[in-house]
Amino acid sequence: MLDKIKQTAAYINSKVADMPKTAIILGTGLGELVNHIENQYVIPYEEIPNFPVSTVEGHSGKLIFGNLGNKRIMAMQGRFHFYEGYSMQQVTFPVRVMKALGIKTMFVSNSAGGINPNFKIGDIMVITDHINLFPEHPLRGKNYNELGPRFPEMSEAYSHRLINDAFKVAEENNIRLVKGVYVGTQGPTFETPAEYKYFHIIGGDAVGMSTVPEVIVARHGDMEVFGVSVITDLGIEGIVEKVSHEEVQKAAAMAQPKMTLIMKELINKFEE
Ligand code: HPA
Repeated sequence: MLDKIKQTAAYINSKVADMPKTAIILGTGLGELVNHIENQYVIPYEEIPNFPVSTVEGHSGKLIFGNLGNKRIMAMQGRFHFYEGYSMQQVTFPVRVMKALGIKTMFVSNSAGGINPNFKIGDIMVITDHINLFPEHPLRGKNYNELGPRFPEMSEAYSHRLINDAFKVAEENNIRLVKGVYVGTQGPTFETPAEYKYFHIIGGDAVGMSTVPEVIVARHGDMEVFGVSVITDLGIEGIVEKVSHEEVQKAAAMAQPKMTLIMKELINKFEE
């Protein structure tokens, strides 16, 4: 694994002169932010050695390097989900590569089902913490001390200073922003009403099928993390309705401009 990470990082380094310190992983249907990146240099995943090859979707995604406001950033458009059949090592490989490239801060977005009764469809939830319910841990197996400690500390998985900055940005722009705990599950089924209820009882505010593995690996490598969920459907007792991938995509598209604005302003504002 170490050789693969080095090889991939060397390839990207050979293509990109001014390496960013900040990366952003864009959730499915939340890729609009890339339109705000200036002076883009794009590398399709299929050209990157050792990157997982997309089998399920027709498009496999790309890395985009460029300027967002006053920062150099690297954006990952298209991520690898555990439910697609990738191993946890594959799902989190891009984060390992980010670390090897010198990325210090990782921003991440996803769409999720709201299980907090105060939430509405289209809300943006700042992730304050997560509950990992994936059936396999991305750090299971031999630990490489070069990558991080055997028993990583997780008391502040999501950076408090970035959470505070995000609320300032929301206030300045008059955007409703909520916060809460993200429950990460493997999917690909959406939840039954009993499962939504259970996830709320154990302390969740939103549930989704991504993010947690990448955040764990980012924290293993001591990167600072900020995450948001776009609430695309509700799993609240009494009002659980049928949800489909199409509805999730539609709701994500509607809320996307708000999310893009918050991410963009936050990235502009924070101190690298
Ligand atoms: N559950 C799990 N994942 C999701 C949901 C949901 O309700 N909505 C979007 N991603």
